[in-house]
Amino acid sequence: MFQNQKVSYSGVQPSGNLTIGNYLGALRNFSTYSEDYKCLYCVVDQHAITVRQVPADLRRRTYETLALYMACGLDPEKVTLYVQSHVHEHTELAWILNCFTMFGELSRMTQFKDKSAKHADNINAGLFTYPVLMASDILLYQTDVVPVGIDQKQHVELCRDIATRFNALYPDTFTIPEPIVSKSGMKIMSLSEPTKKMSKSDENPNAVVYILDDKDTIIRKFKRAVTDSDTEVRFAPGKDGINNLMSIYACFTGKSMEEIEAEFAGKGYGDFKLAVGETCADALAPVQQRFAQYMGDKAGLEAQMKKGAEEASYIARRTLSKVEKKLGFVQLR
Ligand code: TRP
Repeated sequence: MFQNQKVSYSGVQPSGNLTIGNYLGALRNFSTYSEDYKCLYCVVDQHAITVRQVPADLRRRTYETLALYMACGLDPEKVTLYVQSHVHEHTELAWILNCFTMFGELSRMTQFKDKSAKHADNINAGLFTYPVLMASDILLYQTDVVPVGIDQKQHVELCRDIATRFNALYPDTFTIPEPIVSKSGMKIMSLSEPTKKMSKSDENPNAVVYILDDKDTIIRKFKRAVTDSDTEVRFAPGKDGINNLMSIYACFTGKSMEEIEAEFAGKGYGDFKLAVGETCADALAPVQQRFAQYMGDKAGLEAQMKKGAEEASYIARRTLSKVEKKLGFVQLR
């Protein structure tokens, strides 16, 4: 569909508070990705309403997410960045795919089980069919690869099953997508419980460093990071706290563990934590500056959304029309 270029597609929840884990593990590498693939990134506002949202917050976060992605280096001239609700084909294909997805399959989704336990007062049908909308997102663009976190792999596998089933009945409709799960080596752990992954929804604000945290906050959080009772900056089994800080420092500076050990030989944890905090804050400063610039220009962001939606719609329309024709829907010209 794109002159033989492979398609990479990913969806992101409209949430402005992404962490340095998201930054180091994913966002920072997006621009290199766009050299090899035709990339589409969608802000999935329709997925977001499967749990209750405050309208003003959802709207603001949609802008913020777009601005943050651009601030991290996604160039809208090279990749398609758009908002899900701006391309109506997503929900139209979702209805169709609902008729090719089994109740039993959706019942087995771990995220559904987790979310319905967490939101026991609102186990709505949208929460249940969430993976079908996600499958539509992916399949509309004849996607080859889907970069996702490990928690979303099951959904991509379901998407493959749905597409395979559909293709068996109506040959050559969809490309079968492949999940790409980012390397576990990029795992950034919580600063207060370094055996747990750093999560944007952690209740302890000291455990997480957000991309948009200011310098003082970042330094304070690193100072408070949990470490062991040893004093040497050394990467070793069992030293989860220090290992995590060293990994973060390595990611930001490109230094190896040996280089870091040499740099801090004879210095204590205090000096090291301060260095990690300062390095992290300095690396994020330009991202934050660009973010503020983009957020200060709502009209500019809206123009980007519009451009992205037009690019996406063009492809989505073609796939949907192919699907409807195969199904036997009457097409008016
Ligand atoms: N469900 C994904 C998440 O919560 C977001 C998402 C929606 C997505 N549609 C997608 C990811 C399509 C990849 C492809 O993270």
